Amino acid sequence: MNKVPFVSLKNQYAEIKRGLLPYLRAAVERSDFILGKDVQLFETDFARYCRRRFAVGVNSGTDALFLGLLSLGVGPGDEVIVPAFTYIATALAVTYTGAKPVFVDIDPRTYAMDVTQAGKAIGKKTKAMIPVHLYGHCVDMDPLLKIAKAHGIKIIEDTAQAHGALYKKAKAGSMGDIGCFSFYPTKNLGAFGDGGMVVTDDESVHRKLLMFRDYGRKSRYEHVSIGYNSRLDTVQAAVLRAKLPCLDRWNGLRRKNAAAYNRMLKGVEGIATPYEAPYAKHVYHIYAVRLKDRDAVVAELSRNGIGVLIHYPIPLHLQEAYAGLGYRKGDFPVSEAAAAEIVSLPMFPHLRESQIRRVCSVLKRALKGRQ
Ligand SMILES: Cc1ncc(COP(=O)(O)O)c(C=O)c1O
Repeated sequence: MNKVPFVSLKNQYAEIKRGLLPYLRAAVERSDFILGKDVQLFETDFARYCRRRFAVGVNSGTDALFLGLLSLGVGPGDEVIVPAFTYIATALAVTYTGAKPVFVDIDPRTYAMDVTQAGKAIGKKTKAMIPVHLYGHCVDMDPLLKIAKAHGIKIIEDTAQAHGALYKKAKAGSMGDIGCFSFYPTKNLGAFGDGGMVVTDDESVHRKLLMFRDYGRKSRYEHVSIGYNSRLDTVQAAVLRAKLPCLDRWNGLRRKNAAAYNRMLKGVEGIATPYEAPYAKHVYHIYAVRLKDRDAVVAELSRNGIGVLIHYPIPLHLQEAYAGLGYRKGDFPVSEAAAAEIVSLPMFPHLRESQIRRVCSVLKRALKGRQ
């Protein structure tokens, strides 16, 4: 059986190996494992890539959101608007601060936060909103930024899935008060373990982030706030430094792969391929198609050795962890329908066209069997 993995990172490693090994050797020889030279160099490179003044490396994407929210003053008594359809980390970060996540529905075509719904959810306690550039497609930011400005609300871009994506000419992560990235290994820019980054143009937010990630300290043993241990490892920063120059090319390969899928699935009854809005440059962290009778089709794909995943089967308002917020089934119908019908097909830069053809042929067969 010709298996097709959901994701494979082997070719990425082969590409960067020559550049990476000297970085790693130098880091080990310097032994500056915590907040070492590569962290500073990567922060400078990544800030420039995002067209931001500052970048602060942290432990994970979740911590980027958590510390980012703290640095904007979000805390107990505040509400933060979050899409109901995203990875749970977006909401968890809000909960960690003591603030309350307030869920809103998504746009049925892009799966990103519905901006009109977000506007309607604003109340007296709303302190911030977290647009999530889900799957690598940007939220419609201009109207959202306008609403936020009118209400004096902070915008935190969850850019965990959208390194290098564009909204019009703006880089994802460059538009809100802060942009938060994850470098989880399978992300478009991934480390060899956990990692994250917050980017901003605001000097005082930058200063707070540097403190929060490092035990709240001002000098070695002078602690001015309750801080955390959440630093990007030097070794991970070295990996990311070696990979960053490849990011745009790898995103280009993802787009090429998406175009091949779109071509092969064009006109196939019972399947909807991803939408790319005129304002967006999608970077296809996830290539998600939509179909009825999803679970049976997924079973057939799995039986044939095709690696598929579902991002995400349960919207956040229906997660047991958030039962205390009192939401019910039916509250966010667009998110609920997406959760029932979406399936993510294999997607990574080095996926071959022959592999895409194989996925599409099994998928078409599975769909035909159900009509
Ligand atoms: C949309 C979104 N937000 C936040 C995160 C959290 O990132 P991390 O896994 O690095 O903590 C992820 C990663 O899985 C994500 O997909």
